[in-house]
Parts: sequence; C-alpha cells; structure tokens
Amino acid sequence: MAKTKTTFFCQNCGSQYAKWIGKCTSCNEWNTIVEEVIQKEEKRKWKQTSTPKKNTKALKISEITFNEEDRILTKNNELDRVLGGGLVKGSMILLGGEPGIGKSTLLLQVALAISKKVLYVSGEESQNQIKMRAERLENQNSNCLILTETNTQNIFKNIEETIPDLVVIDSIQTLHTEYIDASPGSISQIRETTAELIKFAKETSTPVILVGHITKDGNIAGPKILEHMVDVVLQFEGDRNHTYRILRAQKNRFGSTSELGIYEMQSFGLREVQNPSEILISEKDESLSGTAISATLEGMRPLMIEVQALVSTAVYGTPQRSSTGYNIKRLNMLLAVLEKRAGFKLGAKDVFLNITGGISVDDPAIDLAVVSAILSSNEDEAIPQEFCFAGEIGLSGEIRPVNRVDQRILEAEKLGFKKIFISKFNKFSKKECAINVVLVSKIEDIFNTLF
Ligand code: TYD
Ligand code: MG
Repeated sequence: MAKTKTTFFCQNCGSQYAKWIGKCTSCNEWNTIVEEVIQKEEKRKWKQTSTPKKNTKALKISEITFNEEDRILTKNNELDRVLGGGLVKGSMILLGGEPGIGKSTLLLQVALAISKKVLYVSGEESQNQIKMRAERLENQNSNCLILTETNTQNIFKNIEETIPDLVVIDSIQTLHTEYIDASPGSISQIRETTAELIKFAKETSTPVILVGHITKDGNIAGPKILEHMVDVVLQFEGDRNHTYRILRAQKNRFGSTSELGIYEMQSFGLREVQNPSEILISEKDESLSGTAISATLEGMRPLMIEVQALVSTAVYGTPQRSSTGYNIKRLNMLLAVLEKRAGFKLGAKDVFLNITGGISVDDPAIDLAVVSAILSSNEDEAIPQEFCFAGEIGLSGEIRPVNRVDQRILEAEKLGFKKIFISKFNKFSKKECAINVVLVSKIEDIFNTLF
C-alpha cells in the first residue's frame, strides 16, 4: 500500500511546511498550521477524451487571430462592464464577498438571464432553496440547470452529460476531489479543485465562475495562489445594512480593474443602478452646511459623490480626526494646508468626514470637495446644492488639474448642476455649456468665492 503523504499548510496564507510549527513564518499568524493529507497523483480529474495531444508552436503576434465574439454577454450590464465586455470563453472568474452580501443572488440572476445553457452547481443550498430564490427573481430561463453536488468527479460527469456554455460553482470552499484526502475548504482541496476546474475551462473554452468566501480581514479564503490561478478576481462589497452593493475587479486579465458596477438589493433581487450619481447624493429640502458634491470618476464612469464634513470645537486636548471612505492621512494633509492658507485652527477643532453611500474614493479630484465641505462646516454656511467640485489640492494650497475633466463637466451638466469648480490650469474643450465652469487656482479663491 502506498504510504500516505502529509504536509502542513498555513490555513491563512497557504504556505507549506514539512513539520508543524506554532507560528507561520510567512504571514506571522499563530496556530494556523494544519496537517493535511496529500496523496500521490493518480489523476483522472477533468479529462476530455477527444482532444488529441497538440504540438505547441510559437506564433508571431500578428498571426494570432482574436475575435471579440469570444466573449459571452451576460445581459447584466454592470457585470459585463466590470468584466471588460462580457465573459471571455475559457476564463475562470472568482467572485468574493462577505456572507449574505448577495453573491449567490447575483450569479443565479445571471444564470437565469443569460440565453445560454448554464450549469449552476451549489454546494451550499439545496435545489429547493435555489428554486425558492429563483421564484423571487425576475427572469426565468429554462436552460438553467441546477446541481447540488460537492464532488468534482460527479460535477465533471454532469458536465460531460449536459455540455453547458457556462458553469457557476457556489462555492469553491465546498468542493472536494477524491484524489486528495483533506476536508473541503482546506488549502490543498481548494488548490486541487481549482486546478481541475481551470483545466476543464481551458480545454473546453467554457467560462467558469467560482464563488469564494472571504476571511475576516476581507481576503479571499484559501491560498493566495488561488487569486493567481484565476483570470479575473471580482469583489462584491457593500454594507449589509445598506442596500447598495459595489462590484469591483481586483484583477482582470481581459479588461481594466478600474471599472465599477453598482447594484441595489431589492426584494426581487439585485437591480442594476444605471445612474449612480442620483443615489449617492442625498435628498434634502434645503442646503445644509458641511456638504459639498464632487465630480469624481470611478474607472471610466463619472460619479457625483457627496462629501459631508463636521467641524466642531475640540473638547479634549488632542483634536479628533475621523474619516469614512477617504484616506485619513490625506485628510490630515488637507487640514494642514487649510491652516496655512485659510486660517483654519487645526489644533482646536475636531473634524469628521464622511463620503455618503459607503463608497471609498481614491480619485484625487475629490480633494476640492473635501476642503469645501470642511470650510462650509467651519463657517457654518451652506454651499448651494447646485455647485460641484473637481480638483486636486497640492501641498502649497494650489488647485491642480484633474484628468478627463470634460467627462466630469458633462455629467454635472446632465444632472442639473449650475456651477462646477475646477482648476484654472485644466484644459477643457466644451466652451458653451449650460453649466457655469468656475476656474480657481488657490484655496483662497475658493474661500472667497463661496463665503
Ligand atoms: P446571498 O446571495 O445568499 O448572499 P451570499 O451568497 O453572498 O452569502 O444573499 C442573500 C441576502 O440578500 C439575504 O440576506 C436576503 C437578501 N435578498 C434580498 O434582499 N432580496 C432577494 O430577492 C434575495 C434573493 C435576497
Ligand atoms: Mg451564497
């Protein structure tokens, strides 16, 4: 009888060790090393009998043909855009997210909407439960096959019988292959089952979407290598208490990672939000001090985002700084600039900053709105609701140009804003627009114009 081979894996980062140790030397976590059985490979796994052994040959890049048809549209515009224009055939997509955020809902919705044959494999819910969920969703596609199975060999048997155009696996942590003796969800099982599925995807040009659980610090559970193995890593984010969900690409071999999809969770499933600016700006009757609207860009898409600031007198020795959705270091820098340029008493004020809608923004163009919101709260004077801002702030208080300003102006105009403040040095092409473009070069200018 062959000797059973075991190795020790860190359950946090996937590092492999020859013997047990208390602390993983690569991720520094304690007590995460677990012994797992790995057996000698006697592979069956995914096998396609009809494929002859191909001789691989190097080709000139000009000789390689590629047609855009190789993408399958999911009919879910937000998902298609985040993927870079639909599912690439033979690609492997990993969708991660917190429990209950809506991963299964999103994929079932895609499976029901797409006009291809889909095999939806669930290791988490029964066929009845999935049917119940499907009843709540709008589209009904009779081509969607539901399988509750966790054994990869049985899944491949079903695939061979049904020949689907798209396979959805919910979730990779529930799968196990017979060729490894470890429990489902362990590092070696995740790695092996993913490898088997990748082999299947590449050989048959069938796209596979995997659901992945995430750990408490927000990473996809399992080895880091999982993210390297797949072609696309998507994250489904959002606050469970809010209805908005954001789909981001963390890695995409076939498109940009700066695209963003926005959904709203409703009683009939996830609704695509076509015009996100409307939801990100809160409804109110009158202008309140401390809010400013920024014309930002997320990927290629313009987003109008509301920034709220509260400035109050610090009661304790050290003033408090708190920021949600905006880098706190950058906030501190802006406050220092404000002290120097606008007489803002930095040492005596608490500053709280909040980006509405639970979004976190990296676009530096939001700086100008942050500064305006802080000034507005400090002066206790409201900024009119029809004003918006797009500019980066430099260390000496100068307002710097931002990219694709025309697109921002256009979006602001479309949403009925009357004035947009941008840097004096920003080149913009559209001269006669309904919106008034105000050029500013220093923080002082903004202060004098607004208050
Ligand atoms: P689910 O897709 O099961 O989450 P995940 O697979 O990421 O763990 O999400 C379920 C949540 O969404 C659940 O809390 C209920 C809610 N929900 C709705 O609000 N409306 C719906 O139509 C559906 C199907 C779910
Ligand atoms: Mg689920």
